[in-house]
This record gives sequence, structure tokens and C-alpha cells, in this order.
Amino acid sequence: MSVKFYQPENQVPLEMHKVRVVQKLSLLPVEERLKCIQEAGNNTFLLQNKDVFMDMLTDSGVNGMSDQQVASMSIADDSYAGSETFNRVKAAVKEVFGTDNVLPAHQGRAAENILAEAYVKPGMVTLMNFHFTTTKAHITRLGGEVIELVDKKGLIPKSDDPFKGNFDLKALRAAIKKYGPEKVAFVRIEAGTNLIGGQPVSLENMLAVADICHEFGVKSVLDASLLQDNVYFMKVREPQCKFMETKEIYRLLADKMDIIYFSARKLGFSRGGIITAHDKKFTDEMMEFVPLYEGFLTYGGMEVRSMEAMAVGLLESLDMEYISQGPEFIAYLVNELDKYGVPVIKPAGGLGAHLNCSEIVPNIPHNQYPADAVATALYIAGGIRGMERGTLSEQREPDGTERYAELELLRLAVPRRVFTLSQIKYCADRVKWMYDNRNLIGGLEWVSEPKVLRFFFGRLKEIGYWQEELVAKFRADFGDSL
Ligand code: F0G
Repeated sequence: MSVKFYQPENQVPLEMHKVRVVQKLSLLPVEERLKCIQEAGNNTFLLQNKDVFMDMLTDSGVNGMSDQQVASMSIADDSYAGSETFNRVKAAVKEVFGTDNVLPAHQGRAAENILAEAYVKPGMVTLMNFHFTTTKAHITRLGGEVIELVDKKGLIPKSDDPFKGNFDLKALRAAIKKYGPEKVAFVRIEAGTNLIGGQPVSLENMLAVADICHEFGVKSVLDASLLQDNVYFMKVREPQCKFMETKEIYRLLADKMDIIYFSARKLGFSRGGIITAHDKKFTDEMMEFVPLYEGFLTYGGMEVRSMEAMAVGLLESLDMEYISQGPEFIAYLVNELDKYGVPVIKPAGGLGAHLNCSEIVPNIPHNQYPADAVATALYIAGGIRGMERGTLSEQREPDGTERYAELELLRLAVPRRVFTLSQIKYCADRVKWMYDNRNLIGGLEWVSEPKVLRFFFGRLKEIGYWQEELVAKFRADFGDSL
């Protein structure tokens, strides 16, 4: 919630918490940054955290924990079966979503594996506003297909559309009719959308999607991993939500969905994953896979202390003073970058700021991975680790051809309750420098390309010597600064 400053020019987002535990950071000299990124195969996933100044790779499992969360960890009840800790998790899930049936999984993608194992058969389709990498990998692994039905407005990089994650409802109806409800394994709503800029889905749109599912007898599934940011956007951008309690919004959604799952690395400021449903039928259908892949039904591969932290963190996801911090810092960063003329996805979404690399380096073709090239340039510029969310993060088609991403993005995640505003300002400043020197940035080519989820461990090298030129320019402009 924004606090109004007396002097308008002083207005910035204000943290409603204070920092009581700190971690020292190191910013290496630019020559060492060059060496580190090249040794990491120009893949920011392969950088060592000790070599990173601002870790903006992800908001997953790296959010700041509250004192209450840390305190709760000391009462964790460590038993193989029937732990009290699981009861506290169940109570928190019930408080947030109103659901009674809860299955644990070690993280979000494990929940996706279980969901896919239970419902996806060869030749089936899954309909969703947009895919997420791990979701799609599990579905296609089992012979299913992913069909994306995000409203086309969502793919326009800059607009003032408040809900760019919305489904095209007409296209959803048409798709269910085209394939037939029996071939639709489920409809999945990702709120907010990860790969298209953390853009939210409106309450109205989500409820309409659920209604269409019910009309055709198709299962509705909510991926709630990014729901806390999405609920913030509903509160501030959707008139009907303005005066609703956050809990009312979570409950309204949950009442309409057949199945909800989430990564507690995001929702819940902790670690782990959860699947929950009002109707026991669904959890019964998925239950057998939990002991098989995850662990017993009262821990599902999670560590009990993380479960305690999740239980407290879920309740914090109802608190606007906590959930506004991420989106407000992101909006600040996006607005700074926009003022500097840097192409960035607008309006600001959740999760992080997203640089539109197709515009930053328009001459680098998709198959030289422009978004990853920008990621390496930004690490060189400022020790800032972002994540490529473009063609490199796609899977090749079954025939081996590249699948070009709709948007070539570099994501700068803003983990919740972690960075200070001066660090965010530093980030904006180094992005601006990199942007002003974008003519130096060149493409990348494969050294080794894994078949599955290649962005995690693939290795690339620069084409030519553009990274060395960027370092020389940095020295010329910044003198002996780190
Ligand atoms: N769904 C969404 C929308 C996600 O953003 C993620 C993870 C998952 C599912 C999978 O959850 O990581 O706990 O297995 N997103 C992370 C990211 C990895 O960095 O965007 P997980």
C-alpha cells in the first residue's frame, strides 16, 4: 500500500518492514565478471552466486523470510508420518483457499508432474493462457499438447492493458469444441503469467474461464504460484476488487477452481509445493503419485522447517503490506527504465521487470539468442544476474527446428523483501549504460545443447569478441569503479 510523501518529488515505494539479518555481497571488477560469464558458458544459471552482485535470476525460493517464519521453523515436527507440521500447513491452506484436501510435493514442478501423470494421456490437449517451461515439459513428456489461448493483447510489449494475462474466452470455447471436452485433460490458468512478463489475469476473466470449464465438464486448474502478485493487481487495477479483502479474492477464486497448485518457493515465501482441491475426488485421483515420486503424504519431499515457514508465509500472502512490496518495487524499476528509454514490458507486472530484447538488439536473430546475449551484457555491466526468457528457454520442435519465442525477454526478478531501493536504482542505472552501448552487443552460439530444458545447463559462446569490447567501453566510461 503506498504511503504518501509530503513532498511529491520524494515519493518512492516504502518498505513496511525492516531488515534484521543481512548477507554481504561482492561486486567483482568488470574483467573478472567477463571471465565468470564466459566460464559459465554464457548461461546465467551456471554463474556462481559468490560472483553475483544482484541476483535477479528468479523470485523462486529466494524471498526474504519474516521473523515469524524463522521463529516457526523451530517448532517443526519431524516425523515420517502424521506430523503436526503438516496439520499446520493444511490449516494455512484452508485459511487462504478454504480447501480441505491437500497433497504435498517437493516444489511446483513436482505438483505439475503429479497433475500430468494423473490426467494427461497421449493425444490429449491442455489449454492455458500461457505455458510455463516445467509445466509444458511434463505435459509433452506424457504425449499431451499445450495450447496457448492468451488474449493477443497480452503479447503487445507496451500497452496500458491492466490484465495482459487474460484468456481469450472465445478462443477457449472454440478450442474445447474443436478438440471435444473428453480430449481436454484440463484448462490451466496461470495467474500471473511467468513467461510473458508476470502479467496478471483479472478476477472477472478467471471466473469466466472456470464457468466455461464447468459448462463443458472440463477440469479447471489454477497455477497459483504467482497469485500473491496477481491478487495485488486485482486490488489496485480491478474496480470490483478495490474494497474486497484479499482473502475474499483468494476464496472467490478457489471456490470456482477444481484443482489449485502452487510453488511455495513463490507463494508462501518458503520452499515446497502444494496441490489442493475442494473435492476429495481430485486429490484421491492424484494421491498415489505422491508417495511414488515425492514422499509420504504428510511431507511430500519437503523439509519440515520449510513447511512451517510456508504455513506462516501463506498467511502473510493475505497481507497487502507484504504483497505490495514486490509489485511496487518492480513498478519503480520499470518506470525508471521507461524514463531512460529502455524497451521494457509495460505495464509493470509481478515477478520482475522484463527487458524487451527484440528491440534492444534487433539485429541479433532468434537463433543467436538475443535475450541471452543481453543477459550476459548486463552481468558484465553490473554483476547483475537476470534470466533469459526467450528462444533459448523454448524447446525445439520434435523435428529439431527452433521454436522462436513470441517475446525475447530478459527477466530481472525482484525477490520479495530482499533488495533495497538503492540497489534497484543501481540496477536501472547499469541497464541504462548497457542500453546506450547496445550496438556493441553481438550474438551467441551453442557449445553444448541439452535436449531437455536446455536453458538450465546449456553452454554457449560469444560470436566474435564483442564481450571484450564491452569491457573496454566499461573501463573507458567508469574509470576504476567496480
Ligand atoms: N508455475 C509457475 C507459474 C512458475 O513460475 C514456476 C516456477 C513453477 C510453476 C514451478 O515451480 O520452481 O517450485 O518447481 N518458476 C521459477 C521461476 C522456476 O524462476 O520463474 P517450482
